Amino acid sequence: MTSLLGRLVDAGAALGWVTPPASTEISGLVRRLAAGTEAGESAAAIARRDDEITGFAYWTRYTRPTFRPHVDIEKVAVDPGAQGRGVGRGLMEALIQAARGHGTEVITLDLRGDNGAAIGLYESLGFTRYGRLPDFVAVGQKRFDTLLYSRDLRL
Ligand SMILES: CC(C)(COP(=O)(O)OP(=O)(O)OC[C@H]1O[C@@H](n2cnc3c(N)ncnc32)[C@H](O)[C@@H]1OP(=O)(O)O)[C@@H](O)C(=O)NCCC(=O)NCCS
Repeated sequence: MTSLLGRLVDAGAALGWVTPPASTEISGLVRRLAAGTEAGESAAAIARRDDEITGFAYWTRYTRPTFRPHVDIEKVAVDPGAQGRGVGRGLMEALIQAARGHGTEVITLDLRGDNGAAIGLYESLGFTRYGRLPDFVAVGQKRFDTLLYSRDLRL
């Protein structure tokens, strides 16, 4: 998982890291996600080809008491060599199904404004844009918009 995310970050993927995450950070994340899965506090989806992890995505439930019916998809990552073959769609469909299974009302996510592949993926799954924060993402001196998306599972 660490090497998958590291390869993506090294290639400039908009995943929220400027440098590849350390394995201790990722193992801590995986432990937190696993601990919260049964209670519906989190859900993770993994795609594999043989022994290799080719994709990883997860959501976490909002902790704010008034946002408890809702979850936020924090990361969706597909290995560069496996992109464009339906892996991202499969991960997203698994996360949406898990969210429904836990009675979730709204799924939110955000993405970097120049991420055309992610925009195409999320919009094709019924997510709609509800906001934009201009020049919100800082990568060194560069600035990118953040786009805010949601899908209401009650509709
Ligand atoms: C964004 C990402 C997850 C998409 O995963 P993927 O496995 O390549 O996507 P899929 O093959 O499942 O494609 C699903 C849909 O996404 C859209 N899509 C995928 N790649 C696209 C591209 N390059 N341009 C426009 N739309 C694209 C299409 O709607 C596609 O449906 P279609 O094949 O029926 O046309 C993947 O490119 C990735 O990991 N990128 C780097 C990390 C990242 O940016 N994550 C998202 C952060 S918000």
